[in-house]
Amino acid sequence: MKRKVTKAVFPVAGLGTRFLPATKSIPKEIMTLVDRPLIQYAIDEARAAGITEFIFVTARGKSALEDYFDESPELETSLKKGNKTALLETLRNTYMDSGTIAYVRQNRALGLGHAVWCARRLVGDEPFAVILTDDVIAAEKPCLQQMAEAYAETGGNIVAAMEVAPEKASAYGVLDVAEDMGSLVRVKGMVEKPKMEDAPSNLAVIGRYILSPSVMQTLNRAKVGAGGEIQLTDAIAEEITAGNPVYGFRFRGHRFDCGSKAGFLQATVSFGLAREELRGEFEQYLHETIAVLKAAQ
Ligand code: G1P
Repeated sequence: MKRKVTKAVFPVAGLGTRFLPATKSIPKEIMTLVDRPLIQYAIDEARAAGITEFIFVTARGKSALEDYFDESPELETSLKKGNKTALLETLRNTYMDSGTIAYVRQNRALGLGHAVWCARRLVGDEPFAVILTDDVIAAEKPCLQQMAEAYAETGGNIVAAMEVAPEKASAYGVLDVAEDMGSLVRVKGMVEKPKMEDAPSNLAVIGRYILSPSVMQTLNRAKVGAGGEIQLTDAIAEEITAGNPVYGFRFRGHRFDCGSKAGFLQATVSFGLAREELRGEFEQYLHETIAVLKAAQ
């Protein structure tokens, strides 16, 4: 019987140097798209997929992230007094029940695989999800939920996947495809950040995973890979060698790379336009800005 996935690991220990100086004092996961921090998008997606235990792999300087999930009695009182029911609801949606959220520290930045491995005791002998908060996915049905539904059929390991331009493949984990079944592909190998000429395909791994607990055992060996880091991609690739299936899943939705400034700005524009209360004014501003740009060309 295939088990339900109820635990998710959020590796949030990264320094976020690409967003300095902001990340000098705020964790990048607290940076907001419109008015919601990246971490809130990730949590909501996990909840929609049936996740009930949330494991954060943090590091020094990330305490603002832990505080974010606490209840705020002062804010509640003030919103109640002002009859701000919608805001009160928004606030309450950020609360996490005691005992459903856990934090472990990654003491040294040794790579994504190492970060995930730091959660091994909390994950135990169960399949688990991993969500990278940098990858924000706008979708009618949240990406991890789509994957959990696919996983209920396939078991094994599933990674989110997306076609990228060949010259971009070296920024990702890349899939070596054995069989293309449409939204699912069976994978025969995975390479982390290959050189353009070595990329086995242009199907890139995006930051959503449902993994078998044996991946944690592989990570125990702490094998160093691309960039001198312990790579999650390598541990998943070893699943294939061990005879456990690995699938790529072409999700339905639009992914924003919020780990880059350009991607973050694109997400801000899209999420801004998606908000009814902002759309009119914001759309007009964008039209005018583009018209001015075109006139100047
Ligand atoms: C990580 C993973 C990579 C994956 C990417 C998706 O890389 O190591 O396999 O393709 O996330 O965003 P990073 O972007 O942290 O360098």
